[in-house]
Amino acid sequence: MDRLLAFINGLVDEKQKDKTSELFTGFEQEVTQEYEANWLVRRIAQLENGDSVSVLAEVNGRIVANGEITRGHYIETRHHGELGLTVMSVYRGMGIGGEVVRTLLREAKRIGLKSVDVEFLSTNQAATRTYQKAGFKEVGRIPGKVYRKGKLFDSVIMARRI
Ligand SMILES: CC(C)(COP(=O)(O)OP(=O)(O)OC[C@H]1O[C@@H](n2cnc3c(N)ncnc32)[C@H](O)[C@@H]1OP(=O)(O)O)[C@@H](O)C(=O)NCCC(=O)NCCS
Repeated sequence: MDRLLAFINGLVDEKQKDKTSELFTGFEQEVTQEYEANWLVRRIAQLENGDSVSVLAEVNGRIVANGEITRGHYIETRHHGELGLTVMSVYRGMGIGGEVVRTLLREAKRIGLKSVDVEFLSTNQAATRTYQKAGFKEVGRIPGKVYRKGKLFDSVIMARRI
């Protein structure tokens, strides 16, 4: 719990300090132990129900990356997953993100998912490259999806079959 809390609040800190941060939505303010505990309870229930798969990366006992693929909510979208992934800034560019994506895709296949998508800021070169390498292709952009500090930014969506 404490290590998860340190991870999420490290990202909040990054987003507050780095105006050029590529972090997507969320991470606006520090989360409390109670909030994180509730998040963990929901996440464990999702994992137990086969509604998501999750991969954490650790370095010397410190959580440095967290990724998940969450199953669609509707009967007709339950074969499709949405991916989210964040690596702590000092550990980026070392191959951790790519490894987490490969593991997530294997796990998603195991629970029967057939396709997956991921959405991020269109300026995010690291994410574009990471997902291209993992077999994703761009399927669209949403102009002005993110409103940040008075400006609108486009998002890009990449997807692949599993
Ligand atoms: C996107 C992200 C997950 C990638 O993880 P990572 O551990 O940094 O990526 P890797 O080290 O595995 O690199 C994967 C590929 O991307 C390339 N890459 C990494 N950083 C890059 C950068 N800043 N610019 C261009 N390419 C980059 C790597 O060179 C590698 O390609 P290569 O093998 O052809 O050289 C990570 O940078 C991150 O958490 N960013 C902030 C959050 C985010 O954007 N999440 C994605 C939205 S879900």
